[in-house]
Amino acid sequence: MSQHDVTFDTANSGGRDNAPILVTGAAGQLGAVGRTVTGQLLDRGLPVRAMVRRDDDRAAALRAAGAEVVVGDLLEPGDVYRVVSGCRRVYFGMSVSAGYLEATMIMAAVAREVGVDALVNMSQMTVSQMSIQNTTPSPQQRQHWLSEQALAWSGLPVVNIRPTVFLEGFFLTLTSPTVRDRGRIELPFGRGKASPVAAADVARVVAEVLANPGTHLGRVYELTGPQSQDMDEVAQEYSDALNRKITYSDIPPDDWQGELKKAGLPEHLTKHLVTMAELNRAGRYDRLADGVQRVTGQPPMSVREFVSLHAEKFGGRRS
Ligand SMILES: NC(=O)c1ccc[n+]([C@@H]2O[C@H](COP(=O)([O-])OP(=O)(O)OC[C@H]3O[C@@H](n4cnc5c(N)ncnc54)[C@H](OP(=O)(O)O)[C@@H]3O)[C@@H](O)[C@H]2O)c1
Repeated sequence: MSQHDVTFDTANSGGRDNAPILVTGAAGQLGAVGRTVTGQLLDRGLPVRAMVRRDDDRAAALRAAGAEVVVGDLLEPGDVYRVVSGCRRVYFGMSVSAGYLEATMIMAAVAREVGVDALVNMSQMTVSQMSIQNTTPSPQQRQHWLSEQALAWSGLPVVNIRPTVFLEGFFLTLTSPTVRDRGRIELPFGRGKASPVAAADVARVVAEVLANPGTHLGRVYELTGPQSQDMDEVAQEYSDALNRKITYSDIPPDDWQGELKKAGLPEHLTKHLVTMAELNRAGRYDRLADGVQRVTGQPPMSVREFVSLHAEKFGGRRS
Protein backbone atom coordinates (compact mmCIF):
# COMPACT_ATOMS: atom_id res chain seq x y z
CA MET A 1 0.00 0.00 0.00
CA SER A 2 1.29 3.46 -0.75
CA GLN A 3 -0.01 6.23 1.41
CA HIS A 4 0.48 9.87 2.18
CA ASP A 5 -0.05 10.94 5.74
CA VAL A 6 -1.83 14.25 5.94
CA THR A 7 -3.71 15.63 8.91
CA PHE A 8 -7.13 17.14 8.37
CA ASP A 9 -9.34 19.09 10.69
CA THR A 10 -12.54 17.06 10.79
CA ALA A 11 -14.01 19.13 13.62
CA ASN A 12 -16.62 20.55 11.26
CA SER A 13 -18.38 17.18 11.33
CA GLY A 14 -19.88 18.19 14.67
CA GLY A 15 -23.64 18.48 14.43
CA ARG A 16 -23.72 16.73 11.05
CA ASP A 17 -23.49 13.15 12.29
CA ASN A 18 -26.93 12.38 10.92
CA ALA A 19 -26.35 14.06 7.58
CA PRO A 20 -26.41 11.59 4.68
CA ILE A 21 -23.41 10.18 2.86
CA LEU A 22 -23.61 10.89 -0.87
CA VAL A 23 -22.91 7.97 -3.20
CA THR A 24 -22.62 8.91 -6.88
CA GLY A 25 -23.02 6.47 -9.77
CA ALA A 26 -25.32 4.53 -7.48
CA ALA A 27 -27.43 2.78 -10.13
CA GLY A 28 -24.46 0.73 -11.33
CA GLN A 29 -23.45 -0.38 -14.78
CA LEU A 30 -20.25 -2.46 -14.87
CA GLY A 31 -18.57 -2.71 -11.46
CA ALA A 32 -21.54 -1.09 -9.72
CA VAL A 33 -19.30 -0.05 -6.84
CA GLY A 34 -21.71 2.77 -5.95
CA ARG A 35 -24.69 0.43 -5.75
CA THR A 36 -22.85 -2.03 -3.52
CA VAL A 37 -21.50 0.77 -1.32
CA THR A 38 -25.04 2.11 -0.92
CA GLY A 39 -26.26 -1.29 0.29
CA GLN A 40 -23.35 -1.74 2.66
CA LEU A 41 -23.77 1.71 4.24
CA LEU A 42 -27.51 1.15 4.66
CA ASP A 43 -26.74 -2.23 6.29
CA ARG A 44 -24.60 -0.33 8.79
CA GLY A 45 -27.57 1.90 9.58
CA LEU A 46 -26.04 4.98 7.93
CA PRO A 47 -28.21 7.42 5.95
CA VAL A 48 -27.36 7.40 2.23
CA ARG A 49 -28.22 9.81 -0.56
CA ALA A 50 -27.85 7.79 -3.75
CA MET A 51 -27.29 9.79 -6.93
CA VAL A 52 -28.49 8.26 -10.18
CA ARG A 53 -28.65 9.58 -13.72
CA ARG A 54 -32.23 8.48 -14.36
CA ASP A 55 -35.20 7.37 -12.30
CA ASP A 56 -35.47 3.76 -13.51
CA ASP A 57 -35.90 0.30 -11.92
CA ARG A 58 -32.42 0.51 -10.41
CA ALA A 59 -33.36 3.79 -8.73
CA ALA A 60 -36.57 2.20 -7.42
CA ALA A 61 -34.53 -0.68 -5.95
CA LEU A 62 -32.23 1.79 -4.17
CA ARG A 63 -35.27 3.61 -2.79
CA ALA A 64 -36.81 0.33 -1.63
CA ALA A 65 -33.55 -0.52 0.15
CA GLY A 66 -33.84 2.72 2.16
CA ALA A 67 -31.69 5.22 0.25
CA GLU A 68 -32.75 8.78 -0.47
CA VAL A 69 -32.55 8.72 -4.28
CA VAL A 70 -31.63 11.90 -6.15
CA VAL A 71 -31.48 12.23 -9.92
CA GLY A 72 -28.80 14.33 -11.57
CA ASP A 73 -25.97 14.65 -14.05
CA LEU A 74 -22.41 14.72 -12.70
CA LEU A 75 -21.50 17.01 -15.60
CA GLU A 76 -24.02 19.65 -14.49
CA PRO A 77 -22.62 21.89 -11.72
CA GLY A 78 -26.12 22.89 -10.55
CA ASP A 79 -27.14 19.23 -10.17
CA VAL A 80 -23.96 18.40 -8.28
CA TYR A 81 -24.41 21.38 -5.95
CA ARG A 82 -27.99 20.27 -5.23
CA VAL A 83 -27.02 16.66 -4.43
CA VAL A 84 -23.89 17.41 -2.39
CA SER A 85 -25.58 20.12 -0.29
CA GLY A 86 -26.48 18.72 3.12
CA CYS A 87 -24.17 15.69 2.84
CA ARG A 88 -21.19 15.18 5.12
CA ARG A 89 -19.21 12.67 3.05
CA VAL A 90 -19.03 11.73 -0.62
CA TYR A 91 -18.13 8.70 -2.70
CA PHE A 92 -17.26 9.95 -6.17
CA GLY A 93 -17.26 7.39 -8.98
CA MET A 94 -18.93 7.09 -12.35
CA SER A 95 -18.70 4.87 -15.41
CA VAL A 96 -15.63 5.14 -17.64
CA SER A 97 -16.47 8.09 -19.90
CA ALA A 98 -14.95 11.03 -21.75
CA GLY A 99 -16.20 13.63 -19.25
CA TYR A 100 -14.55 12.04 -16.21
CA LEU A 101 -12.04 14.80 -15.48
CA GLU A 102 -14.66 17.51 -15.90
CA ALA A 103 -17.01 15.68 -13.53
CA THR A 104 -14.21 15.35 -10.96
CA MET A 105 -13.47 19.07 -11.17
CA ILE A 106 -17.14 19.94 -10.75
CA MET A 107 -17.33 17.66 -7.71
CA ALA A 108 -14.17 19.19 -6.22
CA ALA A 109 -15.43 22.75 -6.72
CA VAL A 110 -18.79 21.91 -5.15
CA ALA A 111 -17.26 19.96 -2.26
CA ARG A 112 -15.03 22.93 -1.46
CA GLU A 113 -18.00 25.29 -1.59
CA VAL A 114 -20.31 23.10 0.49
CA GLY A 115 -17.66 21.65 2.83
CA VAL A 116 -17.40 17.88 3.31
CA ASP A 117 -15.58 15.75 5.88
CA ALA A 118 -14.38 13.14 3.38
CA LEU A 119 -14.29 12.69 -0.39
CA VAL A 120 -13.56 9.11 -1.43
CA ASN A 121 -12.35 9.22 -5.01
CA MET A 122 -12.43 6.19 -7.31
CA SER A 123 -9.22 6.03 -9.30
CA GLN A 124 -7.07 3.29 -10.84
CA MET A 125 -3.91 1.45 -9.84
CA THR A 126 -2.23 2.46 -13.10
CA VAL A 127 -1.96 5.96 -11.62
CA SER A 128 0.64 4.60 -9.18
CA GLN A 129 3.01 4.10 -12.14
CA MET A 130 2.26 7.40 -13.89
CA SER A 131 4.10 10.71 -13.88
CA ILE A 132 4.36 13.78 -16.12
CA GLN A 133 6.86 11.97 -18.35
CA ASN A 134 5.22 8.58 -18.13
CA THR A 135 1.52 8.42 -18.89
CA THR A 136 -0.43 5.83 -20.92
CA PRO A 137 -2.49 6.12 -24.13
CA SER A 138 -5.72 5.55 -22.18
CA PRO A 139 -7.65 8.83 -21.88
CA GLN A 140 -9.40 7.42 -18.79
CA GLN A 141 -6.13 6.64 -17.03
CA ARG A 142 -4.75 10.09 -17.88
CA GLN A 143 -7.89 11.70 -16.52
CA HIS A 144 -7.60 9.73 -13.27
CA TRP A 145 -3.99 10.85 -12.93
CA LEU A 146 -4.93 14.49 -13.52
CA SER A 147 -7.95 14.16 -11.23
CA GLU A 148 -5.79 12.95 -8.37
CA GLN A 149 -3.37 15.84 -8.96
CA ALA A 150 -6.16 18.40 -8.88
CA LEU A 151 -7.82 16.85 -5.83
CA ALA A 152 -4.48 17.11 -4.02
CA TRP A 153 -4.29 20.82 -4.90
CA SER A 154 -7.90 21.29 -3.74
CA GLY A 155 -7.02 20.79 -0.08
CA LEU A 156 -10.11 18.62 0.35
CA PRO A 157 -10.00 15.64 2.76
CA VAL A 158 -9.59 13.06 -0.02
CA VAL A 159 -9.02 9.31 0.05
CA ASN A 160 -7.92 7.87 -3.31
CA ILE A 161 -8.95 4.31 -4.11
CA ARG A 162 -6.77 2.71 -6.79
CA PRO A 163 -8.03 -0.73 -7.77
CA THR A 164 -6.43 -2.86 -10.43
CA VAL A 165 -8.64 -4.36 -13.17
CA PHE A 166 -12.10 -5.41 -11.90
CA LEU A 167 -13.17 -9.04 -12.25
CA GLU A 168 -16.55 -7.74 -13.42
CA GLY A 169 -15.16 -6.20 -16.63
CA PHE A 170 -12.72 -8.32 -18.62
CA PHE A 171 -13.29 -11.46 -16.59
CA LEU A 172 -17.11 -11.51 -16.40
CA THR A 173 -18.58 -9.35 -19.15
CA LEU A 174 -15.95 -10.07 -21.78
CA THR A 175 -15.17 -13.75 -21.09
CA SER A 176 -18.51 -15.24 -20.05
CA PRO A 177 -19.89 -15.80 -23.61
CA THR A 178 -16.81 -17.74 -24.85
CA VAL A 179 -16.41 -19.65 -21.58
CA ARG A 180 -20.08 -20.64 -21.81
CA ASP A 181 -20.03 -21.53 -25.53
CA ARG A 182 -16.49 -22.82 -26.15
CA GLY A 183 -14.90 -23.42 -22.74
CA ARG A 184 -12.32 -20.75 -23.61
CA ILE A 185 -11.17 -17.44 -22.19
CA GLU A 186 -10.35 -15.42 -25.31
CA LEU A 187 -8.36 -12.29 -24.49
CA PRO A 188 -5.30 -10.53 -25.94
CA PHE A 189 -3.39 -10.69 -22.64
CA GLY A 190 -0.32 -12.62 -23.87
CA ARG A 191 1.72 -14.16 -21.07
CA GLY A 192 1.23 -11.19 -18.71
CA LYS A 193 0.18 -11.74 -15.13
CA ALA A 194 -2.63 -9.85 -13.42
CA SER A 195 -4.28 -9.77 -10.00
CA PRO A 196 -7.90 -8.75 -10.75
CA VAL A 197 -10.06 -7.59 -7.88
CA ALA A 198 -13.80 -7.99 -7.36
CA ALA A 199 -15.77 -4.75 -7.37
CA ALA A 200 -17.55 -6.12 -4.28
CA ASP A 201 -14.20 -6.02 -2.43
CA VAL A 202 -13.53 -2.52 -3.75
CA ALA A 203 -16.96 -1.50 -2.45
CA ARG A 204 -16.19 -2.97 0.99
CA VAL A 205 -13.11 -0.75 1.19
CA VAL A 206 -15.05 2.34 0.08
CA ALA A 207 -17.87 1.66 2.56
CA GLU A 208 -15.44 1.20 5.44
CA VAL A 209 -13.62 4.44 4.61
CA LEU A 210 -16.89 6.36 4.32
CA ALA A 211 -18.18 4.95 7.59
CA ASN A 212 -14.97 5.73 9.52
CA PRO A 213 -12.90 8.19 7.49
CA GLY A 214 -10.72 9.59 10.30
CA THR A 215 -7.49 7.61 9.90
CA HIS A 216 -7.87 7.20 6.14
CA LEU A 217 -7.95 10.87 5.12
CA GLY A 218 -5.12 11.81 2.77
CA ARG A 219 -4.28 8.19 1.97
CA VAL A 220 -4.07 6.21 -1.23
CA TYR A 221 -5.24 2.60 -1.20
CA GLU A 222 -4.09 0.23 -3.91
CA LEU A 223 -6.41 -2.77 -4.27
CA THR A 224 -5.72 -6.09 -5.98
CA GLY A 225 -6.99 -9.64 -5.71
CA PRO A 226 -5.07 -12.20 -3.64
CA GLN A 227 -2.81 -13.60 -6.42
CA SER A 228 -1.02 -12.42 -9.53
CA GLN A 229 -1.46 -15.08 -12.22
CA ASP A 230 -0.98 -15.51 -15.96
CA MET A 231 -4.00 -16.43 -18.02
CA ASP A 232 -3.31 -20.19 -17.99
CA GLU A 233 -3.39 -20.02 -14.19
CA VAL A 234 -6.56 -17.94 -14.35
CA ALA A 235 -8.11 -20.55 -16.69
CA GLN A 236 -7.27 -23.22 -14.10
CA GLU A 237 -9.19 -21.18 -11.49
CA TYR A 238 -12.18 -21.11 -13.85
CA SER A 239 -11.85 -24.90 -14.37
CA ASP A 240 -11.81 -25.51 -10.62
CA ALA A 241 -14.82 -23.25 -10.08
CA LEU A 242 -16.90 -24.70 -12.94
CA ASN A 243 -15.69 -28.31 -12.64
CA ARG A 244 -14.90 -28.49 -16.38
CA LYS A 245 -11.87 -27.75 -18.51
CA ILE A 246 -11.49 -24.07 -19.38
CA THR A 247 -8.49 -22.99 -21.45
CA TYR A 248 -6.93 -19.66 -22.38
CA SER A 249 -6.67 -18.55 -25.98
CA ASP A 250 -4.36 -15.58 -26.60
CA ILE A 251 -6.12 -13.74 -29.43
CA PRO A 252 -4.46 -11.15 -31.70
CA PRO A 253 -4.91 -7.61 -30.24
CA ASP A 254 -5.91 -6.12 -33.61
CA ASP A 255 -8.73 -8.63 -34.11
CA TRP A 256 -9.97 -7.94 -30.60
CA GLN A 257 -9.86 -4.18 -31.14
CA GLY A 258 -11.84 -4.68 -34.35
CA GLU A 259 -14.51 -6.57 -32.39
CA LEU A 260 -14.78 -3.74 -29.84
CA LYS A 261 -15.22 -1.23 -32.67
CA LYS A 262 -17.85 -3.43 -34.31
CA ALA A 263 -19.70 -3.62 -30.99
CA GLY A 264 -20.04 0.19 -31.23
CA LEU A 265 -18.32 1.05 -27.93
CA PRO A 266 -17.50 4.75 -27.48
CA GLU A 267 -13.96 5.66 -28.63
CA HIS A 268 -12.94 6.71 -25.10
CA LEU A 269 -13.85 3.27 -23.72
CA THR A 270 -12.30 1.39 -26.65
CA LYS A 271 -8.97 3.24 -26.24
CA HIS A 272 -9.08 2.51 -22.52
CA LEU A 273 -9.74 -1.23 -22.97
CA VAL A 274 -7.08 -1.53 -25.69
CA THR A 275 -4.54 0.17 -23.40
CA MET A 276 -5.47 -2.14 -20.53
CA ALA A 277 -4.83 -5.18 -22.75
CA GLU A 278 -1.48 -3.70 -23.88
CA LEU A 279 -0.43 -3.04 -20.29
CA ASN A 280 -1.48 -6.55 -19.34
CA ARG A 281 0.67 -8.08 -22.11
CA ALA A 282 3.57 -5.91 -20.93
CA GLY A 283 3.26 -7.29 -17.39
CA ARG A 284 2.17 -3.97 -15.92
CA TYR A 285 -0.73 -5.57 -14.02
CA ASP A 286 1.63 -8.00 -12.31
CA ARG A 287 1.17 -6.27 -8.96
CA LEU A 288 -0.01 -7.25 -5.50
CA ALA A 289 -1.30 -4.81 -2.89
CA ASP A 290 -2.90 -5.40 0.47
CA GLY A 291 -5.41 -2.53 0.57
CA VAL A 292 -8.50 -4.73 0.86
CA GLN A 293 -7.13 -6.69 3.82
CA ARG A 294 -5.72 -3.59 5.49
CA VAL A 295 -8.89 -1.52 5.36
CA THR A 296 -11.53 -4.22 5.84
CA GLY A 297 -9.61 -6.83 7.86
CA GLN A 298 -10.64 -9.49 5.33
CA PRO A 299 -8.82 -10.84 2.27
CA PRO A 300 -10.06 -10.14 -1.26
CA MET A 301 -11.96 -12.74 -3.28
CA SER A 302 -10.00 -15.10 -5.55
CA VAL A 303 -10.81 -15.64 -9.23
CA ARG A 304 -12.10 -19.09 -8.34
CA GLU A 305 -14.48 -17.70 -5.69
CA PHE A 306 -15.66 -15.02 -8.10
CA VAL A 307 -16.34 -17.49 -10.94
CA SER A 308 -18.16 -19.82 -8.50
CA LEU A 309 -20.33 -16.93 -7.39
CA HIS A 310 -21.24 -16.09 -11.00
CA ALA A 311 -21.20 -19.69 -12.32
CA GLU A 312 -24.57 -19.36 -14.11
CA LYS A 313 -23.21 -16.57 -16.33
CA PHE A 314 -20.34 -18.85 -17.37
CA GLY A 315 -22.70 -21.69 -18.32
CA GLY A 316 -22.96 -23.27 -14.89
CA ARG A 317 -20.88 -25.69 -12.84
CA ARG A 318 -20.71 -29.29 -14.02
CA SER A 319 -21.80 -31.65 -11.25
N1 LIG B 1 -13.55 -1.72 -14.60
C1 LIG B 1 -12.32 -1.80 -14.12
O1 LIG B 1 -11.58 -2.77 -14.40
C2 LIG B 1 -11.81 -0.71 -13.22
C3 LIG B 1 -10.60 -0.88 -12.57
C4 LIG B 1 -10.12 0.13 -11.73
C5 LIG B 1 -10.85 1.29 -11.58
N2 LIG B 1 -12.04 1.45 -12.24
C6 LIG B 1 -12.75 2.71 -12.10
O2 LIG B 1 -14.02 2.47 -11.52
C7 LIG B 1 -14.92 3.50 -11.97
C8 LIG B 1 -16.15 2.85 -12.50
O3 LIG B 1 -16.80 2.26 -11.40
P1 LIG B 1 -18.01 1.28 -11.59
O4 LIG B 1 -17.59 0.16 -12.49
O5 LIG B 1 -18.55 0.98 -10.25
O6 LIG B 1 -19.02 2.21 -12.40
P2 LIG B 1 -20.27 1.71 -13.24
O7 LIG B 1 -21.02 0.70 -12.46
O8 LIG B 1 -19.83 1.34 -14.63
O9 LIG B 1 -21.09 3.08 -13.40
C9 LIG B 1 -21.61 3.78 -12.31
C10 LIG B 1 -22.69 4.72 -12.74
O10 LIG B 1 -22.16 5.96 -13.22
C11 LIG B 1 -23.31 6.59 -13.79
N3 LIG B 1 -22.95 7.77 -14.59
C12 LIG B 1 -22.20 7.81 -15.70
N4 LIG B 1 -22.12 9.07 -16.17
C13 LIG B 1 -22.86 9.84 -15.32
C14 LIG B 1 -23.19 11.22 -15.29
N5 LIG B 1 -22.73 12.07 -16.21
N6 LIG B 1 -23.98 11.66 -14.28
C15 LIG B 1 -24.44 10.81 -13.34
N7 LIG B 1 -24.16 9.49 -13.32
C16 LIG B 1 -23.38 9.02 -14.31
C17 LIG B 1 -23.95 5.49 -14.63
O11 LIG B 1 -25.33 5.73 -14.75
P3 LIG B 1 -26.22 4.95 -15.86
O12 LIG B 1 -26.04 3.48 -15.57
O13 LIG B 1 -27.59 5.42 -15.62
O14 LIG B 1 -25.66 5.31 -17.20
C18 LIG B 1 -23.60 4.22 -13.84
O15 LIG B 1 -24.72 3.60 -13.27
C19 LIG B 1 -14.16 4.33 -12.99
O16 LIG B 1 -13.60 5.42 -12.33
C20 LIG B 1 -13.06 3.37 -13.43
O17 LIG B 1 -11.94 4.04 -13.96
C21 LIG B 1 -12.54 0.47 -13.03
